[in-house]
Amino acid sequence: MERLSMQGISKAFGGIAALRGATFSARAGEVHALMGENGAGKSTLMKILSGAYHHDGGDIRIDGTPVGIHTPQDAISRGVSVIYQEFSLARHLTVAENILLDRLGRQRLIDHRALEMRAAELLAEMGFPEIDPRGTVGDLPVAFQQVVEICKALSRECSILVLDEPTAVLTTYEAEKLFALVGRLRARGVCIIYISHRLDEVFALCDRVTVLKDGATVGTWPVAELDHERLTNLMIGRELSDFFPSREAQIGPIILELNQLMLAPGAPALDLAVRRGEVLGIGGLVGAGRTEVLRAIFGADPIADGKILLRGQPFRPHNPGDAVRAGIGLVPEDRKQQGVLLDLPILTNALMTPVNPHLWRLGLLRDRRERKAVRNLSQSLRLKAASLDVEAGTLSGGNQQKVALMKWLVSGCEVLLLDEPTRGVDVGAKVEIYRVINELAAQGTAVVMVSSEMLELIGMCDRVLVMHAGAIAGELAGASLTEENIIELAMGREHVH
Ligand SMILES: Nc1ncnc2c1ncn2[C@@H]1O[C@H](COP(=O)(O)OP(=O)(O)OP(=O)(O)O)[C@@H](O)[C@H]1O
Ligand SMILES: [Mg+2]
Repeated sequence: MERLSMQGISKAFGGIAALRGATFSARAGEVHALMGENGAGKSTLMKILSGAYHHDGGDIRIDGTPVGIHTPQDAISRGVSVIYQEFSLARHLTVAENILLDRLGRQRLIDHRALEMRAAELLAEMGFPEIDPRGTVGDLPVAFQQVVEICKALSRECSILVLDEPTAVLTTYEAEKLFALVGRLRARGVCIIYISHRLDEVFALCDRVTVLKDGATVGTWPVAELDHERLTNLMIGRELSDFFPSREAQIGPIILELNQLMLAPGAPALDLAVRRGEVLGIGGLVGAGRTEVLRAIFGADPIADGKILLRGQPFRPHNPGDAVRAGIGLVPEDRKQQGVLLDLPILTNALMTPVNPHLWRLGLLRDRRERKAVRNLSQSLRLKAASLDVEAGTLSGGNQQKVALMKWLVSGCEVLLLDEPTRGVDVGAKVEIYRVINELAAQGTAVVMVSSEMLELIGMCDRVLVMHAGAIAGELAGASLTEENIIELAMGREHVH
């Protein structure tokens, strides 16, 4: 019998249907993938299961019994635990408090030591003993925040576990640890619902897959009966011929150079150069210092020592405004905190870079030409939104990522820093983002791209620098640019073939 059965679920937001009679069921002891394009309704369906949203119609059964899920508490008491795509952590609390506090209820005296020990156990079980239970969550790298989010869900006994893009910010190596854990939970009979845009994971991990399209269920298949092409076709309704489109860029002179740059006193000195028209990749494990390098170039973090040269001139940004005025753009890894203003319309987000805040204030945003540019871009990126005037916060996760990219594409910049640019983006839209990156490179933009997806680094970059423990461990290009070599360098091993 099915552990979970959702029948004819519908849900509209302000008259716009997100789910139209969707059907979904999953068994105990299976890993069931829920797939579909950005905006297909996956997260919404799972938020209905978790009691975060009310459904307008349809019914939910657990072990054959109809259940009314009206609040998150209802869902928890039925054994449903959800790891959300957009984290639900309290950024100012510690790791241990986030993992365990909600279950302490109104207990007045909290035994912090016991809490920390239990949290440390859970983190170790997950394979991340390096995360300090006493650290503040807001200070952790995004990937570690994700690990905390996962531990929080696992600290509860659950019979249905939903993972909404748990690996979007993890590298392959870290994701493996999560998969081992998912395997153990499956063996214990937990029903696991797995949402991901990484097709390889779905084939490696999942037993069955259900595809949603435009809020309705396309169907359910055993994973063994599908391959990449067929699954892609079911999701986006077409085949993808060349996943990594080819680029005709002329690589020009060096535009940006780091010269013995130190991010903190005593930190490894970094040397790097990127040329006009070049796409330079940065690989490495989470915590290797990739994001920090981009932030230092962008003036978001201070620099301890060393030099940055921009167009051959010394350049020392004191804040992001300096960087933007000098022609540098950054799409950050954490779109919710830094990338997108969720309560402002898409159009405003797309047009408001620190370069043109005055335009925004003067209300000149409605300029027809700009509106048209944004509209064209949103079409080419296949942005799913009712209009350009809806708040960015109402978009699905992958569509928010597209908005984060759009603002630099509209305003233009000479050096574009991208931190996990295709995080949470569906396969169809990924190819469109790759095309846009290629176009920018062809126009002479220098692109520096941090990515945790090795295939993306290999498929898109002219060269890849691999970081380990804050230092650049090596450079790979041409025939040496392989998954194996990226892993070797990322793990801090010397020998590269
Ligand atoms: N709170 C909300 N207010 C208005 N519209 C919403 C809200 N939440 C979701 N939607 C809309 O519902 C639709 C489905 O969104 P949902 O987040 O379920 O997509 P998804 O399949 O999870 O996509 P992704 O792969 O990008 O995460 C989208 O069109 C989205 O804009
Ligand atoms: Mg989603």
